[in-house]
Amino acid sequence: MNSNSLVSIDDISRDEIVDLLKQARYFEMHPDQKILDGKVVATLFFEPSTRTRLSFETAVNRLGGRVIGFSDASTTSSSKGETLKDTIKMVSNYVDLIIMRHHLEGAARYATEVTDTPVINAGDGAHQHPSQTMLDLYSIYKTQGTLQNLSITMVGDLKYGRTVHSLLMAMRYFNPTFHFIACEELQMPKEYKDFCDKYNIRYYEHRDFTPEVINQSDILYMTRVQRERFTDIMEYERVKNLYTLRSDMLEGARKNMRVLHPLPRVNEIAYDVDDSPHAYYFEQARNGLYARQAIICKALGIDIPKMEITL
Ligand code: CP
Repeated sequence: MNSNSLVSIDDISRDEIVDLLKQARYFEMHPDQKILDGKVVATLFFEPSTRTRLSFETAVNRLGGRVIGFSDASTTSSSKGETLKDTIKMVSNYVDLIIMRHHLEGAARYATEVTDTPVINAGDGAHQHPSQTMLDLYSIYKTQGTLQNLSITMVGDLKYGRTVHSLLMAMRYFNPTFHFIACEELQMPKEYKDFCDKYNIRYYEHRDFTPEVINQSDILYMTRVQRERFTDIMEYERVKNLYTLRSDMLEGARKNMRVLHPLPRVNEIAYDVDDSPHAYYFEQARNGLYARQAIICKALGIDIPKMEITL
């Protein structure tokens, strides 16, 4: 395995996370550079994506590198039965870095085992989405001025939501308090609650989406109920609209509170929230460009300046 790979947010230390945030800050101020001249990056998306793929590809393009890849695996030889192992080994012949999304948990880890080319996990099933976490951390830092001692409320699909799993793990360095709002079927899995216990992270579980919880939050992290993760479509229909944020629910929110969402949204944030000063999800997606520029440079071993930030 190439040690520059990023499969799980747990693969990198607190110092590495902080360095990536400092570099994201640098790229926000200097997004156009020619530091990937001669580098070729593959984006292999076996699952649909808008933000992750396009922001990774924009990141490479703005840094002067080139991109190959696919956004629809049905147009590749996977549809003829080529294995993931063979696909990764083939692509490794052509590129300096592989960025991949796959519906199977563990697919990115498996890829690192069959190639020496660095691999960035752009989402593997319900497991991890570490580059999303870096942009989430950067967004939290930008809106709160710190990552320390924050109250973070996660709402919606906490069972299959890889973004909440990765974010929870990364926040262990920053003394958070979590509130988990989910129905019985979509609770935060035991392994992540055990993780909180192991690192003395406070967490509280709720079924109801009440003003009391919203009003004591610094970050309200909404998530989509993901139809594609359900084997029982009737269960999806039963739970898909249980938690919807409307603008009137934000009347008592802290001034600093920001609503984040990895997007895409379906019904979980009403459109009237978009005009609220608490809404930050579109800016959050923009931060993905800078965070991913930093992640790509780290994976390729390219040194770049770090801007000072105070956590
Ligand atoms: N947040 C996120 O992963 O969005 P996409 O599925 O559009 O990449």
